[in-house]
Amino acid sequence: MPDEGFSCLAGARVALRRFGLADLADFVAYRSSAQVARYQSWDAPYPRAAGEQFIGELMRGHPDTAGQWFQFAVVLHPGGQLIGDCAAKPDAGDPRQCEIGFTIALAYQGRGYATEAVSLLIGYLFAGRGKHKITASCDARNTASAALLERLGMRREGHLRESTWASGEWTDDLLYGLLRDEWQPPGR
Ligand SMILES: CC(C)(COP(=O)(O)OP(=O)(O)OC[C@H]1O[C@@H](n2cnc3c(N)ncnc32)[C@H](O)[C@@H]1OP(=O)(O)O)[C@@H](O)C(=O)NCCC(=O)NCCS
Repeated sequence: MPDEGFSCLAGARVALRRFGLADLADFVAYRSSAQVARYQSWDAPYPRAAGEQFIGELMRGHPDTAGQWFQFAVVLHPGGQLIGDCAAKPDAGDPRQCEIGFTIALAYQGRGYATEAVSLLIGYLFAGRGKHKITASCDARNTASAALLERLGMRREGHLRESTWASGEWTDDLLYGLLRDEWQPPGR
């Protein structure tokens, strides 16, 4: 069921909030980095018009809508600087299962912000939204993404050989999963 009342989730150093049009320039800038886009679904540079449309759609949508990705803005807390985004898509057929994704601007990587942001997202999905299972996948060459998922306690459940055609080549995908019963909330 869509979480129409969602506004913000705050952690120690980052917060997740809704995107607004004021985020457009920073959003387009970090998506336009070739290193950030390397294993993602878009190409760099990322067009401003695409960002405008994307943020516009997010502003009309709500988290926890079955079958739809919802991107949360990741901002420094306190401060409010946009440093990336993380996302969740409840399965269309059974929304108790939910896939997640994440991106942090290059200048803010390597400081633990992604770990904190995705940990907030997982807590929201399990404790706040009653999800049963959270899944994620990444290109097998995306070592930073796999390391993040493993740091968060996610289990590698599969390695799919040459299962995606990306930028003119077949690539392997890693599949990760975490059950609510296995989840260790931070600080426990
Ligand atoms: C995937 C991605 C979000 C991971 O970001 P990241 O910066 O490696 O992850 P974190 O923010 O959690 O930072 C972890 C690093 O910060 C270090 N760190 C520094 N200070 C820290 C702190 N206070 N707390 C925790 N970690 C800290 C950790 O030791 C770790 O370093 P290491 O990579 O040398 O082991 C990032 O690489 C990215 O955005 N990539 C492009 C988009 C993408 O591919 N997304 C995934 C698609 S599947």
